[in-house]
Parts: sequence; structure tokens; C-alpha cells
Amino acid sequence: MKFKEIKENIFYCGLNDADRVIFDELIPLEHGTTYNSYLVRGSEKTAIVDTMYPPFTEDYLKNLDEAGVTNVDYIIANHGEQDHSGSIPALLEKYPSAKVVTNANCKGNLMEMLLVPEDRIIVIKDKETLSLGDKTFEFIMAPGVHWPDTMFSRLVEDNVLFTCDFLGAHLPFEDLYAKCDEELISSAKRYYAEIMMPFRPMCKKYVKMIDEIKPEIICPSHGPLYNKPEFILDLYRDWSSDEAKNLVLIPYVSMYKSVEEMAFYVKEKLEAKGVKALCFDIIESDLGDIAMNLVDAATIIIGVSMVLASPHPAAANVAYIANLLKPKAKFASFIGSFGWGGDLFGKLGGMLPNLKVEIIEPVLVKGKPEKKDFEALDTLVNSVFEAHKKSGLI
Ligand code: FEO
Repeated sequence: MKFKEIKENIFYCGLNDADRVIFDELIPLEHGTTYNSYLVRGSEKTAIVDTMYPPFTEDYLKNLDEAGVTNVDYIIANHGEQDHSGSIPALLEKYPSAKVVTNANCKGNLMEMLLVPEDRIIVIKDKETLSLGDKTFEFIMAPGVHWPDTMFSRLVEDNVLFTCDFLGAHLPFEDLYAKCDEELISSAKRYYAEIMMPFRPMCKKYVKMIDEIKPEIICPSHGPLYNKPEFILDLYRDWSSDEAKNLVLIPYVSMYKSVEEMAFYVKEKLEAKGVKALCFDIIESDLGDIAMNLVDAATIIIGVSMVLASPHPAAANVAYIANLLKPKAKFASFIGSFGWGGDLFGKLGGMLPNLKVEIIEPVLVKGKPEKKDFEALDTLVNSVFEAHKKSGLI
């Protein structure tokens, strides 16, 4: 996408990466993503806000040339991660008088990760301003969404807020502004689940802060812009709240179908009691779908086969990731099957120290589940139902 004007002398100059299939080598992408960059021309100075993912540097610089950008005074780095800072060295070479404007934390990252020379960096503090003439930037430190070096930048006169990764979405776009539809919600939620959910308390804090700023336009660094900021702020209010939904997430791995049979039995019995349940075969499923449902689920039940006297690595991977993402779940349990022995739930449970969950009595079966095992699963279902009821979810 070429330059697009957001407001007078404020331009979008980022790029779509519709072919990208996975982010952070972790979460599959449904539509690819974008790396947003912005150009602001003041009456005296010109600034770029965030830059470009390194593999796209050449296209990015070409677009700047085609738009006639012959001088840049400031490169504002809201965050040091290389999908936004990666083209800073190339920009500094292209525009020899340009200075990088960032906070002290980000300065260290840029120097260490990109070898940006110290004398090309101007360090600013919270609430400090930078004049471009008729436009003024105010910098707002926002550590924790999602790196300690993150900050927001606001164009004071235009009330345009650049929120870096916060409020982003993995969604390429041609029109500047988000269509507030299901595709956007899904892309923003997938993004939130991986990038922001581990920092839920900080998300709440910055949503409140942005509520007070009341920006006219929000410009994140991935996905479309928001000229109706309340849409994405309301979604974040919901996702980052402490209120879980009446949802049980059952990711499972099943070597001989016993765990799968148990997983679907539990799902059916829960749904008969009015509790929504979703089963995901971990081997077949998109990890992003599992992560997105972790955003809302009140209960997580991990289904697992024993392999080599331990939990199957696919289930261990989901437990590990759930622990990293720190979802708001209130309850957890396990269902599993083994052939000859080992430790299934002890090892798996030990992988969830970050989850503030009450453990509901798990169900372990040797081989194929039989009558007594289904009775144990009924007890598990009743316990989940009662827990949801007591929590006011039903
Ligand atoms: Fe999109 Fe933290 O970089």
C-alpha cells in the first residue's frame, strides 16, 4: 500500500504482509499481518513514527522515495522490537541528519539489537514534547504493552494517538480504517491472545488512560487504524477484564482415541447442563484458535495421553503456552489415559504455576474408558457445572 493521508500532513506509510503465515514462530496467522509506519510533516520538521520489518526495508524506502520524502528529522521509535525498529539503521543512513527519538529503555534495545549509534538517539521522558512546528508530539510511557520499552506518541493538535503494538490486529488492509466486523474482531483477538493477554493488568490500565485522552484516531502498529476508537477499546475492556465466560476449553491429544472419547463425552455432558464447551485436537488444530479461546474460558481441561511415562509433548506444549499467556481461567482439570504407567497430571499440573486456578479432580484412565471412568467424568462435569454456577457464570 502506498502513502495514505490520515489527516492533513499525517500519512500512513506501512506495508501489508499478507503472505506471513506465523507470528513469532508461534501463532499461525489467518490473513498475514501489517507493519505500520507513519509520516508526519510539520511546518518545520518531518518525523516518522515506527519503521519497518527488516525484510521489507527495500520496499519501504522505495515508497518513501516515491512519495518525495527527501528529508526526515526525527524517527520516533515507540518500541525496540524489530518488526517496527528494524529499518532504523537504513533510515539513518538514508537521512544523515535524522535522529531517533525514544525513551531510555528503548535506546538501550536499539543500541544492542540494531547497533544504532548513541549519538543518533535523543532520549525523551514521559509527557515530554517534541515540536515539528505546527504539530507537537507528546510521548506517553506505556511499559508492559508489551515490552518494558513501549511508549505511545500523541499528536497533540490533531489528537491522533500512536499506540504501537497495543490495540493491534493481524489484518492486512487497503482502506485505512477498521471495518468493525467479525474478521477484525477475530484478527484483533488472535493478536491480543498472544501479544497482550500475558499483560492483562497493564491492558486494563492503558485502556483507562486512553479513555481519558479520548483520541480522535488510534494508529496501532499492526492492522487497520481506528477512527471509532471505542470499538477496539470496548473489546479490550472485555478481553482484559477479570470476568471469564461460561466456556470450557478442552484441548486434547489422543494416541488411541481414548482421550478423545473422554473429551467429547465431557463436552456433551457439559453442554447438556448449559455450559459451552469446545474440544480442540491439538495435533490438528490451529494454536491461535486455542489461544483465542483462552481469552474467555472460565475452565481449561487438558486431555492427554501418556507417552514414555510422561504427558504427550503436544499437551505439554499447550500447558506451557497457556502458562505463558496467563489467561483469566478460574478452574482447570485434566483427563488422561495411559498404557503402562508414569506421571501424567503431576508433571502437567506443574507446568501451570502462572494460572490462578482451582484444580478440579482430574480423571485418569488405564486404556479405554469404561463405566466407572464415565462415572468419574460425570463427577468432573458436575464439579465444573457447580463451579461455574457458584461463580455466577450460569
Ligand atoms: Fe509488533 Fe512488539 O512488535
